[in-house]
Parts: sequence; structure tokens; C-alpha cells
Amino acid sequence: MAAKRPLDLPQAARILEPGPLALVTSLHRGQHNIMTASWLMPLGFGPPRLGVAIHPSRLTHELITQSETFGLSIPTLDLLNAVHRCGLESGREVDKFLTAKLTPVDAVEIDAPLVGECVAHIECGLVQRLRLADHDLFVAEVLAVSAVEDLFADRWRLEGDGALIHHIAGDHYAGLGKAYRARLTEEE
Ligand SMILES: Cc1cc2nc3c(=O)[nH]c(=O)nc-3n(C[C@H](O)[C@H](O)[C@H](O)COP(=O)(O)O)c2cc1C
Repeated sequence: MAAKRPLDLPQAARILEPGPLALVTSLHRGQHNIMTASWLMPLGFGPPRLGVAIHPSRLTHELITQSETFGLSIPTLDLLNAVHRCGLESGREVDKFLTAKLTPVDAVEIDAPLVGECVAHIECGLVQRLRLADHDLFVAEVLAVSAVEDLFADRWRLEGDGALIHHIAGDHYAGLGKAYRARLTEEE
């Protein structure tokens, strides 16, 4: 994986702007975990905040509630099978870094590892956990952001390799690999 460049914290919103799914990493008392999540969103630039909806049954829910920190790692299509596996297996039964063959790498601001094969990372500190429906909304402040320079500079540069992954349903996914630019003219 190419080196990642640290970015200003508000860039977290731009990383999540096209709605890619993410691998949520967590750690508490020596137990690390990865969970695939598609229900996540930016909540603000200043302070930079984001939200992830996590069901109370997930090990991830427990680890983040205890540690009050988590990581988001943004995968590309080459990691599709690993991403799917991390959304089916539970860290209660297996170590998903091993079963999905993903590499834990050190974060800057949090103890939880990040996923080395991913192209961008957002490190998060828990601000609030809201019980709104059957999933809880974990509201987090952004503590650190980094991304591969060739793929992300103020926005995703999607013309090359490395399409972002979007979830459709079940084992169906889509890749966002090309960007289009809107141009308004006088006639419109
Ligand atoms: C594509 C995909 C997206 C998912 N998104 C979410 C999500 O946003 N929130 C959630 O609670 N579970 C989501 N899941 C389900 C969890 O990833 C799954 O239950 C996982 O096994 C939980 O792992 P854990 O028990 O190790 O935390 C998703 C699963 C898939 C396959």
C-alpha cells in the first residue's frame, strides 16, 4: 500500500462524501476487531464529526462503548471478499484480521489498529451514543485523517485504479470508479 498523507480534520467529510462503506476497527483490553459498516455519514465540518449506526448485538458496539474510540478504514474493490467476510463473521468467534487476511497497522491518535490495505483512514473519538432505533448512532469527533495522495486530494480522484465500494444488498456491491462534473449553463 502506498504511503498515506495526513490531512486536515474536516477532510473526513470529503472522504465519506460519496458514501463508501468502511471497515470499523476497535480495540478494548487487548481484543481487536474489524466490522464492515455501510451506515455511516458526515455530521459536520466544524467541529469535524461523523456518525455510524451500529447494532447492539455487534462485538464492535461493545468494544467502542468501552474504549470510546474507533477507526474507519476505506477499502477499494480489490478487498471486496475481505470486506464481505468482515460483515458476516463476528469477532466474538474469530480474529477477522486473520480470516480476512488484513493487516493491523498503528493509528496516530487511537489505540485501535487501522487496516493497512485500505486507502484512507479516519480516527474517531466517541462523543455520544444515541439510541434512536434498533441500531445505535455513534457520534464521533474526528481525531486524525490520512489518505493515499494519488487517490485523494481535497476530493476522491476516481479516474484511476481503486474504486470505492458501495453496498447494494446481501452479497451485491457496486464500485464507484469514475467521477462526473456538473456544469450549469445559462439555459438551465
Ligand atoms: C456490506 C455490509 C454492511 C454492513 N453495515 C453495517 C452497519 O452499518 N452497521 C451494523 O451494525 N452492521 C453492519 N453490517 C453487519 C456487521 O458487519 C456484521 O453483523 C458483523 O458480523 C459484526 O461484527 P462484530 O460482531 O465482529 O462487530 C454490515 C454487513 C455488511 C456485509
